[in-house]
Amino acid sequence: MLKKQLEYIRKITSFEPEIAIVLGSGLGELADEIKSEAVINYADIPDFPVSTVASHKGRYVLGYIGDRKVVIMQGRIHLYEGYSGEELATPIRLMRKMGAGVLLLTNAAGGVNKGFKVGDFMLINDHISSFVPSALIGKNDDSIGTRFPDMTNVYSPRLNDIIRDTAVDEGIALREGVYIQFRGPCFETKAEIRMASLLGADAVGMSTAIDAQTGVHCGFEVCGISLITNMACGISENPLSDAEVTETASKVAPTFKRLVKEAVKRF
Ligand code: HPA
Repeated sequence: MLKKQLEYIRKITSFEPEIAIVLGSGLGELADEIKSEAVINYADIPDFPVSTVASHKGRYVLGYIGDRKVVIMQGRIHLYEGYSGEELATPIRLMRKMGAGVLLLTNAAGGVNKGFKVGDFMLINDHISSFVPSALIGKNDDSIGTRFPDMTNVYSPRLNDIIRDTAVDEGIALREGVYIQFRGPCFETKAEIRMASLLGADAVGMSTAIDAQTGVHCGFEVCGISLITNMACGISENPLSDAEVTETASKVAPTFKRLVKEAVKRF
């Protein structure tokens, strides 16, 4: 399947990205601002899973951030949309096939750590994926990666150092912590967030741990940044909504875009 999809992309462009970027909920506008070489709609790629979430656009944008060649996923697909493991893995694997070696994952997340506040950025230094199935379940394709990938340093210490240094140089406050993924699409209950907190999670979301596993499996050097769009259930007494998530994301988007662009130039 990947072969056919890569052939389709190569018919449109020979551009070979070095860095792959996944943009989370409400963060997609970064892709509109890069020097673009090609735009490829997911819907036009043979057998490609298409995002069903309104705030996710659904296309690859290939181009330049500074002089770095990037491919951006403007909109990702999620477990809760009902995709199989292979479908969930495909968008990430295809960017690796295009030539990218670094994968930067971004997401909107709920703050579990009570020291966080809405609008904070969190460098992901580890994750808990135990509550979601892995995209790697099923027959392993050894030409893509090993059956039993090591997860010691999912989030690259080298890339993490660059992101930390960039944040300091740009005067952007950066938290750091553990991301826990739940299945969604319901936001969590108060009891689930108490559990997440007991387990050592700092932020909660519905996407990134699966993408990070897939990235490690196919040989990417991975890093991730969460945008805390809301405090998680029970930490805030307000009912949670997608509207709150996208509203916070659009408020802090300028700073977020600056952090991503400047870090990518140093990767
Ligand atoms: N929980 C899960 N996913 C999320 C949240 C949340 O509170 N906020 C943004 N994505």
